[in-house]
Amino acid sequence: MTKYKIAWLPGDGVGNDVMEAAKLVLDTMKFDAEYVHGDIGWEFWCKEGDPLPKRTTEMLKTTDCALFGAITSKPKEEAAKELIPELQDKGYVYASPIVRLRQEFNLRTNLRPCKAYAGNPLNFREGIDITVFRENTEDLYAGVEFHPIPKDVMDILNANHPKMKRFAELPLDDVAISLRIITRNAAQNIIRDAFEYAKKHSKKNVTIVEKPNVVRETSGLMIREARKIAKDYPNIELWETNIDAQCMWLVKNPEDYDVLVTSNMYGDIVSDLSAQLVGGLGFASSGNIGDNYAVFEPTHGSAPKYDGLYKVNPIAMLLSVKLMFDWLGEKESVDKLENAIAKVIAAGKFRTYDMGGNSSTLEVAEEVARNL
Ligand code: IPM
Ligand code: MG
Repeated sequence: MTKYKIAWLPGDGVGNDVMEAAKLVLDTMKFDAEYVHGDIGWEFWCKEGDPLPKRTTEMLKTTDCALFGAITSKPKEEAAKELIPELQDKGYVYASPIVRLRQEFNLRTNLRPCKAYAGNPLNFREGIDITVFRENTEDLYAGVEFHPIPKDVMDILNANHPKMKRFAELPLDDVAISLRIITRNAAQNIIRDAFEYAKKHSKKNVTIVEKPNVVRETSGLMIREARKIAKDYPNIELWETNIDAQCMWLVKNPEDYDVLVTSNMYGDIVSDLSAQLVGGLGFASSGNIGDNYAVFEPTHGSAPKYDGLYKVNPIAMLLSVKLMFDWLGEKESVDKLENAIAKVIAAGKFRTYDMGGNSSTLEVAEEVARNL
């Protein structure tokens, strides 16, 4: 019996390339695990009308956690055209499988560390070390959307909110609605996770990034919960900022920020911005973490034009493996892997194209393995 059973989900495009790099490093570390392959991605949408087949979610339930490569996502009209002819016009609607995984497994916390490793030529500046906590299941990602808006929905909104009047006067097909839903429970969980992380890692500040001056109810709820929870952490400062200003501050004074906590859509935006400060998506790892299950994935997408070329940077994937070790409680492996990655970045001998080099995905991974 191996110690762990890990779901192996390469997905689409360069997902395969970076997962191969991860496997090479895991094997070198003699990580005691069995890996179970899961079908997920574009291929299964086209063939079966479901990019996340039920057999895959059932399999995940038998594992400790999952490693995930990348997935193609396209707007629903474009996706519909790619179904096999037999499935055309059957009413299948494409939904991003990673968003579904996050919701179906209640992986409520999206953890996205953005750290400038010394010697990375792509660092915006040295000394940046920001960890983004992004709520992962609600907000505009809840998927409650209407277009056209059903008449009874329009009527109810109009009857209950004076600001609806100017929309209610329009043809139903001329109005699209995406609901921003935030629950107290989810707000409390993500904020608590951010503070706990700050405490554990002796961080000085947690910044709640919202927009309560305009989006009063949802952002307001987040801010109020943050103020309450902050009281339990007297040694950590709570800063409150608006998403727009925060983007500016991140470019101006990124070194000032330790932990950012925010809702799903703002977190999506601010985590890409933070990633670029430390070298771009090639360095951006993430963990989708729930109470009993987690999926670790690089933040980058499937980059179809590089599919199978072994050109992309494996570091985001390898740092995601590091997050997995941390979640599993394999502390020694966390440090070992992070040190090896840091050494390879600092030495600068093996660099993928994004760093101005011409090493392949696997050459960088092999060099990390040699430095373990
Ligand atoms: C991310 C990605 C996803 C998201 C996409 C691929 C659905 O941008 O993980 O940040 O929006 O969450
Ligand atoms: Mg994103």
